[in-house]
Order: sequence, then structure tokens, then C-alpha cells
Amino acid sequence: MKIVIVGSGAIGSLYGAFLSRYKDNEIILVGRNPHVAAIQSHGLKIEGVLGEHLFHLKAINHAREVSKADLVIVTTKTYDTVTAARSARHLIDAGAHVLLIQNGLGTEEMVAKELDTTKVLRATTCMGALHDSPGVVRVTGCGLTEIGSRFAENYTLVEELSNMFKEVGFDVKSSENIEGVVWTKTLVNCGINPVGALTGLTNGEVYNNKGLRGLVVTLVNEAVQVVKALGIELTTDDPVRYALGTAKATGDNINSMLQDIRAGKRTEIDAITGEVIRLAKEFGLDTPSSESVYALVKAIESKYLDNGEAASESDIFEIEELVRTVTTS
Ligand code: PAF
Repeated sequence: MKIVIVGSGAIGSLYGAFLSRYKDNEIILVGRNPHVAAIQSHGLKIEGVLGEHLFHLKAINHAREVSKADLVIVTTKTYDTVTAARSARHLIDAGAHVLLIQNGLGTEEMVAKELDTTKVLRATTCMGALHDSPGVVRVTGCGLTEIGSRFAENYTLVEELSNMFKEVGFDVKSSENIEGVVWTKTLVNCGINPVGALTGLTNGEVYNNKGLRGLVVTLVNEAVQVVKALGIELTTDDPVRYALGTAKATGDNINSMLQDIRAGKRTEIDAITGEVIRLAKEFGLDTPSSESVYALVKAIESKYLDNGEAASESDIFEIEELVRTVTTS
């Protein structure tokens, strides 16, 4: 299979590297310099809990440099999904399917609408990976990858890809309830990510701190109310236990939101906690702790993002209301 990975940061490079070991797969990483330039000159080094490996893969800066593919994997941040999908439109129009491996809610619908296609698959991942330096990815934890699609016609491909990911060493499950999978993962992210991001602590340190563990529980429970209102069937009977179990199992991980803050990058808080708050408001539900952590993460982002983007981008609620929420909770 010819697979183009758009948004090849740590996670995209990790999947691309191992998928290159499957049969006659041809992998092309699409990413930014200096990572791409380093891969072109010295190869891609994977280190950490999966051991040390050097992969010689094709790496480029633009999807337009490729004219045909079987699969486009998008591993960008949620807010870059549509731009990434547009950049690969010619490949999808020419027959490729697109698989989104991301955190956050709503990206499949966005891509399906933007590209006017049902060839959209979705995966969630609990793999932990960091960009140590250009051309080097450190794997910090191994967790489940779940693959599915909202469009039943893609189920055969879902099974084929699940087998491929399994063959190269990932722990994988396929699912016909991808909405439930994505929401289950989002509950984990709602609980762990802002708490780690605001405290600077690893997932394990959050888990080991009684007060923070309590906050994780509250955040997950607030999001569960929305899940119930939407009538979504989760993939776990006990989302709180599942979120805490993930924090413990990925103890050494610096969660992706904390990594973004440390790198001075925009976080995915809007597609995670922000989306929960937005939906909760539609159902008349209260999410005070979620609103507080949301406001705090946005405040941190606004210190380093240009043009006050972090503070102004969301229309969820007025800034005064945010400040009131933080100061009264
Ligand atoms: O966003 C992340 O970092 C991950 O989804 C998870 C599972 C919270 C592990 O760090």
C-alpha cells in the first residue's frame, strides 16, 4: 500500500516508521523542516520503550509532491485537520481513503464535508511519543490504537488496516462504534490533559496526586453528562476508572497538551474540553470545573500565541464570564 502521512510529527512518524515494515508498503512522510530535512539526511531514529531503530523513509514538505496513494493518514493537530485534508484532496479525489489518527471531536465530519467524501476512517491512539530533536522520536508509552469509520462501506478497509497495524507491532482494535471510541478517548483527554498541562506534571504524577486525581474524576464526570445527553454508547462501563487507568498506564507520558504548551504551540483544548462545554450548554448542563480548566489553558496559550488568538478564537463564552468562572470556583 502507498501511504502518505500528512502531519508527520512524533505520532505520524512513529506509525509511518513501523508501517514501512509491512509487506511492500511504501511510506511517505509529509511534515515540516527541520524534522523532514533531518530524516532526508540521516534517516528517522525511533528510541524509547520500543527500542532503538533507524528507518530510511521518504520525507517531503508537501502532499502535492505525490500524485497517487492508497491511503492518506492525517496526524496533525485537530485545528489543522481541514487544511491537511485539503492539501491531500488530489490524492483522495484520485481514489485514496483518509484515516485520521487524532485526539478530539468532530474531525471526521469536517473532513467528509470539506472533501465531499465518505472515504473517511478514524482512529484514536494511546501511544505516547515525543519529538526529541529533528529526525528523532522518543516513544514514551504504548497503548491501544482503535480504528473505525462512521461509514459502513469502509469496514472492510478498517479490518485490513487493523491487521496491518497489528502485524507491525501495535496493539489494535477495530470498532463499528467509532463515535463511542472517540468519546471514550475524549473523556480520558478531558480528564488528564488540562490537569497535566496546567500543573506541568506527567500522567503518572497527576495520577499519584490525590487532589489532582479528584479533579480528573470531576472533569470526566462533567463530560459523561454530555455523553449521556447525546445517547452515545461508550466503550467502557466505567469511564472514570478508565481515565485513571490510562493515566497510570501512561505514567511517564507528558500529555500532548502539556507538550504543546512547552513548545509554545496552540493546544487542542477547543476540540476536547471546549467541545464538551459547548455541547453541555446546548443541553443546559453545568460544567464548572471544565470551564475553569478551559479558561486557564486558554489564558496560558494567550501569553505566547500571536494576536491574542487563544483568547479570542472561541466564541463559547465571553471573557468576563471566563474570569468569573475561574475566580469563583
Ligand atoms: O493526549 C495524550 O497525551 C494522550 O491521548 C493520553 C492518552 C492522555 C496519554 O498521554
